[in-house]
Amino acid sequence: MSQATAYRSIKEALAHIVWAYVDPGDVVLVPDPAYAVYKVQTTWCGGEVFPMPLHAENDFLPDFAVIPASVAQAAKLMFLNYPNNPTGAVAPLEFYEQAVRFARDNEILIVQDAAYAEVSFGEDQAHSILEIDGAKDVAIEMHSFSKTFNMTPARLWLFSEQVLLLCPIMTNGSHR
Ligand SMILES: Cc1ncc(COP(=O)(O)O)c(C=O)c1O
Repeated sequence: MSQATAYRSIKEALAHIVWAYVDPGDVVLVPDPAYAVYKVQTTWCGGEVFPMPLHAENDFLPDFAVIPASVAQAAKLMFLNYPNNPTGAVAPLEFYEQAVRFARDNEILIVQDAAYAEVSFGEDQAHSILEIDGAKDVAIEMHSFSKTFNMTPARLWLFSEQVLLLCPIMTNGSHR
């Protein structure tokens, strides 16, 4: 299988991907508020967290336009999490298009934490970032069975043929 891998937990995978990508001084774009692992692990790896505030008036989506160019260019990773914990927001496809463009322009890897992908309903049904053209070059999406099926240690990520994106993390664990 070249486009998916199993991992023990999103929590662990999030930590490992930071280990794989972030060297001391590297910038990581982290939503604020957010699941704590993005920020804590970045800090533990010596990375610089640049917060992306999630405001109600912006539908709890980060505003890429307010990220200084120097920060965007220095960033290695950007965490997204939709459906979002804790706001409950769901990202529309237009937002994912913007995110993919931003990541491509600045050579950033997006890690979209889709732990709550199946916990969305009706018009707010969650999309996958991988629906966007070009997303497969710049994004990894992580899924979890822990919320949907109450299977706490079983998680699945999806990724693309661009396995180069995955190389560091594919070698950073022995349990696959
Ligand atoms: C946003 C988010 N991502 C990831 C996780 C962890 O998922 P998993 O149970 O697969 O480690 C949680 C669990 O609380 C979460 O809220």
